Amino acid sequence: MFGSNLLPSVLTALALGGASAHAAAASPPPPPARAAPAACHKEACPAAMVRLLAKASGCEALNATIPEKTFFPGSAVYEFENQNFWSNTELKKPACVFRPINPTDVSCGVLAGQKTQSPFAVRGGGHMGIPGANNIDNGVLMVMSNLTTLELNADKSELSVGPAYRWGDVYSFLEPHSLAVAGGRLSPVGVPGLLLAGGVNFHGNQHGWAADNVLEYEVVLADGSVAKATATENPDLFWALKGGSSNFGIVTQFKLRTFASTKVWAGTYTVSGEHLDEFFEAIAHFAATNTDAKSHLVPMTVAASPNTTVASVILFYDSDTVSNPECFKKFLAIPSVSNTCDFKTLSAFAVENGGLVVDHINDLFIAGTTVGKDQASLLKGVQITNDVFFAALPELYAAVPPANLSLVSIDWQPITSLWTAGSAKSNPGGNALGVDTASKGAYLAWAEVVEWIGSEYDDAVFAWAEKTTDAINAATKAAGLYDAFNYMGDAAGFQEIYQGYGAANEARLREVSRKYDPERVFQKLLPGGFKIGN
Ligand SMILES: Cc1cc2nc3c(=O)[nH]c(=O)nc-3n(C[C@H](O)[C@H](O)[C@H](O)COP(=O)(O)OP(=O)(O)OC[C@H]3O[C@@H](n4cnc5c(N)ncnc54)[C@H](O)[C@@H]3O)c2cc1C
Ligand SMILES: *[C@@H]1O[C@H](CO)[C@@H](O)[C@H](O)[C@H]1NC(C)=O
Ligand SMILES: *[C@@H]1O[C@H](CO)[C@@H](O)[C@H](O)[C@H]1NC(C)=O
Ligand SMILES: *[C@@H]1O[C@H](CO)[C@@H](O)[C@H](O)[C@H]1NC(C)=O
Ligand SMILES: *[C@@H]1O[C@H](CO)[C@@H](O)[C@H](O)[C@H]1NC(C)=O
Repeated sequence: MFGSNLLPSVLTALALGGASAHAAAASPPPPPARAAPAACHKEACPAAMVRLLAKASGCEALNATIPEKTFFPGSAVYEFENQNFWSNTELKKPACVFRPINPTDVSCGVLAGQKTQSPFAVRGGGHMGIPGANNIDNGVLMVMSNLTTLELNADKSELSVGPAYRWGDVYSFLEPHSLAVAGGRLSPVGVPGLLLAGGVNFHGNQHGWAADNVLEYEVVLADGSVAKATATENPDLFWALKGGSSNFGIVTQFKLRTFASTKVWAGTYTVSGEHLDEFFEAIAHFAATNTDAKSHLVPMTVAASPNTTVASVILFYDSDTVSNPECFKKFLAIPSVSNTCDFKTLSAFAVENGGLVVDHINDLFIAGTTVGKDQASLLKGVQITNDVFFAALPELYAAVPPANLSLVSIDWQPITSLWTAGSAKSNPGGNALGVDTASKGAYLAWAEVVEWIGSEYDDAVFAWAEKTTDAINAATKAAGLYDAFNYMGDAAGFQEIYQGYGAANEARLREVSRKYDPERVFQKLLPGGFKIGN
């Protein structure tokens, strides 16, 4: 498919301008135009292109070789892609946008960075709301928008998906087949970043992390080659990509395990602040005792205004026949002020959840974890994180007018032994995340969420968040409930990720990174995101 577009574009580039033609003449002939699509698909950046890429800057090199996919300020594509981010905190001024359409282009993009020693950024769905994680001033912004594979295999057990997509696209594609995959809970979130972070998902208690359900990666490595990683082919890379983010290569295709899904019973159940005690009891009870793998929930408290707290829980039950399941009874016993729970498709539910956040304002997530082996410890973890967070709010309201704070909230995601059993079943080779429920008990992976209007408040919010997070962690440490695990998808730029995976996993990630990328291209020239250090 993509292969048939590839050669003409290479030849066009080579035919443009004297320097290009010269280099083309001196190089070995390009591979035959009639090569099988699968083979073309796997080609690294052609040798002639590599020589051309040794130009002054990454953008100049790409403009000289693949001009039809390289866009400069003022062009419609540059202006569109440069705004195509979730949070205003991500916006920057890249020198150009490079929009590859196949792995060969991506290979050229990586080599353009490497040969010219120019920094670049990679953006998938653009939902990592951290300045500089997926964008760059002056360098090349490589966007995944045109890596658009989306197809089921013959028996529909596997879905191949390119990094162009959002989870909503994937679920609506699968819906007519009555199938689903483990992925994001909100439709606008991007596929690649979530899968490379791990992926907290509705089906986690059945199937583990979303990343545990990736059966194969197609990935462009630092030397420009296009590799595969499966449980048996480059198994160390396969392991590292499950939680190791952009440290190993640029993923051009994921193959995901599918499962049956018609309708689910799901919605958001909201109670008033006077019921917080019962709500917290319900969270701890669920985290400590739930044995029903079809369930998933995301409880949160929300500062609806400086004086009003409400509590909401996103409830999900993977059944098209059972409503109000027993495992949620403690939540459902609290009178609701609103309740959208009903039978619906996963696709419709992800769209509904998408409405919980607003894009194109300013956003910050911060992650943390408390652990506990019994209901009392889990309850204490919720209470402490909530209380320290709310105690810090007057300082936030002093820095940002309440009218400019559109969402202030904290949530707790239970990751229990059910989840790790799902992981082990889906992915016996393991992942990099190092979650150890056997020795630590249940995890409550919490996330603070602050959304505001007005970039002039960014610094004040960031400073408040860092201070508040330190205070939360100091309090949970003092109570003996702290864990260093910070889920990457919810983490802020100032946080450590790989330390929280445990020393052995951190060391193994570094080893795999050095093996596949000895020059550290994906840390030094692709500086954005969570990087594995020295
Ligand atoms: C509203 C909202 C809801 C969310 N819900 C969930 C949820 O339900 N579950 C969950 O687990 N997480 C969730 N997240 C977190 C989410 O998983 C991360 O933000 C993730 O990074 C999003 O993926 P993306 O492709 O949109 O990210 P991007 O910002 O595009 O990319 C994230 C990082 O990955 C790198 N990257 C992107 N594409 C590639 C590629 N093809 N190869 C190599 N590196 C690449 C980027 O350079 C960047 O560093 C949510 C986030 C938001 C904002
Ligand atoms: C891109 O290349 C074209 C043709 O080779 C040239 O005219 C144009 O000035 C270049 N653009 C930039 C911004 O370098
Ligand atoms: C590339 O992506 C853009 C933005 O999504 C889209 O408008 C365009 O049609 C895509 N082009 C190709 C060749 O896929
Ligand atoms: C909110 O609480 C503050 C004190 O915490 C008080 O000064 C203020 O009047 C209250 N506002 C409303 C609308 O009740
Ligand atoms: C505060 O928010 C309002 C809208 O609620 C917006 O009009 C205003 O510009 C924001 N203030 C700043 C300083 O951005």
